[in-house]
Amino acid sequence: MVRPLSRMTRPLRFNAFAMHALTHQSPGLWRHARDRSREFARLPLWLDLARLWERGLFDGVFLADVLGPYDVFGGDARAAIRSGAQVPAHDPMLLVPAMASVTTHLGFGVTASLSYEPPFLMARRFSTLDHLTDGRIGWNIVTSYLDSAARAMGLAAQRPHDDRYALAEDYMQAVTGLWERSWQPGAVLADRSGAYADPDRVRVIRHHGPSVTMEALHLCAPSPQRTPVLYQAGSSPAGLAFAARHAECVFVSGPSAAVLAPRVARLRAALAAAGRDPSAVQVFALATIVLGGSDAEAADKLADYRRHVDPEGALALLSGWTGVDFAGAPLDGKVRFVENDSGRAALENFTRADPGRDWSVREVADHVGIGGAGPVFCGSAATVADALRDFRDATDIDGFNLAYAVLPESFTDIVDLLVPELQARGLYKTAYAPGTLREKLFGDGPYRKPGGRSGAA
Ligand SMILES: Cc1cc2nc3c(=O)[nH]c(=O)nc-3n(C[C@H](O)[C@H](O)[C@H](O)COP(=O)(O)O)c2cc1C
Repeated sequence: MVRPLSRMTRPLRFNAFAMHALTHQSPGLWRHARDRSREFARLPLWLDLARLWERGLFDGVFLADVLGPYDVFGGDARAAIRSGAQVPAHDPMLLVPAMASVTTHLGFGVTASLSYEPPFLMARRFSTLDHLTDGRIGWNIVTSYLDSAARAMGLAAQRPHDDRYALAEDYMQAVTGLWERSWQPGAVLADRSGAYADPDRVRVIRHHGPSVTMEALHLCAPSPQRTPVLYQAGSSPAGLAFAARHAECVFVSGPSAAVLAPRVARLRAALAAAGRDPSAVQVFALATIVLGGSDAEAADKLADYRRHVDPEGALALLSGWTGVDFAGAPLDGKVRFVENDSGRAALENFTRADPGRDWSVREVADHVGIGGAGPVFCGSAATVADALRDFRDATDIDGFNLAYAVLPESFTDIVDLLVPELQARGLYKTAYAPGTLREKLFGDGPYRKPGGRSGAA
């Protein structure tokens, strides 16, 4: 695919990828002597991280979330609990106002599942956060992929894969109705000598869809962006169709450019088919970066990190992502694709997405031990800058969603070593753009464009 010039010359974007949890993508690394993850439940760590990410001019932090333990591996949650693999997992939203209070520009992409909460409550919380962050909030729209979460909510199992996207479609109409149409322009008067708001310009939104019924007046006054910046991460056919209709940013994850390039191309094609400008959606690829003063120093650091990986924790995560129980699977056996109600891309990454590469269970466990399914870029700042540029050019992405091995060391290295190298090459911004998160990312106003950035509505 020929990349449009605008995307080739546009600076790379960085998001930090984190979770309000002991472990996110690198199970076992919390045991490293320099790692601060054990402080995850208290604010000082998060305030330090927020300041660091803003010093590095990161566009935002993307906070992942799950609503149940990873209990596919061995049929229970013991391995996840023992290794601390995304158990415990605390509420990500509650971190946001604190981090916003010590930053000015950093955006917050917060994961929230629409499967277990009425749209009215979801819309209210995001509007509140958009106010409290002065328009820096984004929503990573997920439908969840763990049966353990469904059981926790009183259901027998999660909805079938494509039904979850059907629910999501219905749900989006309800929440965007609240955000964009309940309070009309000019509704807020805030006139000390008279009315606060004009009742004729505040209306009840009635939505009667196949899965969602709602009659509600939005309880929040219009926030700086009204609708949070919409992020999405599905790459199955149903996931792509949903992204093509709603997403402003898309997260992708895969171990190599060979896996991601066709996936990004399918997304851009789906956008075009939906009448949107294919380059209007910003795509962020999961990656982990290990840096040193030289390539050799970085390689030593990565070898040290790998010695701390908890292989059982890695397999517990992998089993949860794929819905396949890898306990007792022969470590040298080949990983094969099966279809189930978990996310589809997670298993495709190591099977049919790259027919030229066979993965054994052991190789996949080693790979996901540092940074999950994404690639690890390791070397001096110059080596990694070359690798990121080549990866971007091979895959047609806009930026990286940066997971970590050791917290905050992985990010400190990026900010102090890599960012200056990228800036010197003109590959990274030297200052934030003004305005809300949406304006910083897209530069054309604080509000979502109905029907996407092409204006095709
Ligand atoms: C980088 C990335 C991050 C994700 N983060 C979350 C998350 O925090 N919580 C969640 O429930 N799902 C998360 N997902 C899963 C997606 O929301 C989606 O369920 C998954 O990609 C499968 O979608 P698909 O079957 O359409 O490919 C993430 C996916 C990717 C690629």
